[in-house]
Amino acid sequence: MTTICVAGGTGQVGREVVRLAVASGHKVSVLSRHVPPVGSKKHDDGATYFAGDVTTGDGLSAAVAGADVVIDCLEGQFGKAQKQFADGGGRLLTAARLAGVPRAVALSIINCDLSSSAYYASKAAKERKYAESSLQTVVVRATQFHGLVAMVFAAGAKVRLVPTFRGVSFQSISPVDVAAALLQAALDDLEPDKHRMLTISGPQALTMRQMAESWKSTTGARGKIIQLPFPGPMGDFLRAGLNLTAEQPYGKETFVYWLEKRGESL
Ligand SMILES: NC(=O)c1ccc[n+]([C@@H]2O[C@H](COP(=O)([O-])OP(=O)(O)OC[C@H]3O[C@@H](n4cnc5c(N)ncnc54)[C@H](OP(=O)(O)O)[C@@H]3O)[C@@H](O)[C@H]2O)c1
Repeated sequence: MTTICVAGGTGQVGREVVRLAVASGHKVSVLSRHVPPVGSKKHDDGATYFAGDVTTGDGLSAAVAGADVVIDCLEGQFGKAQKQFADGGGRLLTAARLAGVPRAVALSIINCDLSSSAYYASKAAKERKYAESSLQTVVVRATQFHGLVAMVFAAGAKVRLVPTFRGVSFQSISPVDVAAALLQAALDDLEPDKHRMLTISGPQALTMRQMAESWKSTTGARGKIIQLPFPGPMGDFLRAGLNLTAEQPYGKETFVYWLEKRGESL
């Protein structure tokens, strides 16, 4: 049995890591600002929850105490949270080091260091914190989640349009598959190298149009599929295919399987 602290263990990916780790017989502590109520979908009865905030450092030492490994599934998407994202990771690593935790694994985004978008730059800055840490660290870079693409479609469908971006494909992955990769990285036999980085992708590379057609037929949503330009650094990143990888796919759950599993109908 390994003792695992999942930072951000109430989030989209984090809660899958918690569920998988508990089901595999590990001892799990969870760090997030809000402790989820018992019985809610964010709460797993087999885990212990700690309230803490990586931007202030409050509650971190209690959450990481006794852990063999920390898995960082934190997010900081907008504004101040985005600006503080990398430093928050640094604070978590410091708390882990002071508690004698030997290893930390962080979730990041494929090729985030190759984009000039502020959001991706914050991910790359956190990756550097992990690379520079004295702990043994693994950064797992994932492709975009299925839910991100579905969210774009669902937003447009409210006005009967299903937007796709010209020249853009995705190799999206499910949170369950990402969680499995993070747990594997946390438990793998120690390798001689102190810092490792790996990239994981979903099982299929699909054009956004193909995904929109699947999304419509699976969810029953109505709306005309339209093509839009995607300006700015994120558009450049996606059109250049920097969100895709030629590496063997890690994920098993396809976009359609993930949609069907959610049972979403619109
Ligand atoms: N979306 C994608 O397509 C994609 C693709 C590849 C990688 N990723 C990366 O995957 C990571 C996880 O994404 P996700 O969608 O699972 O995130 P999420 O659902 O937003 O979950 C974030 C988690 O972090 C916690 N948290 C946020 N701020 C915190 C703080 N200051 N202190 C302590 N806990 C805090 C949240 O709980 P509280 O709010 O209660 O604190 C929650 O548990 C992100 O770094 C993201 O960039 C995303």
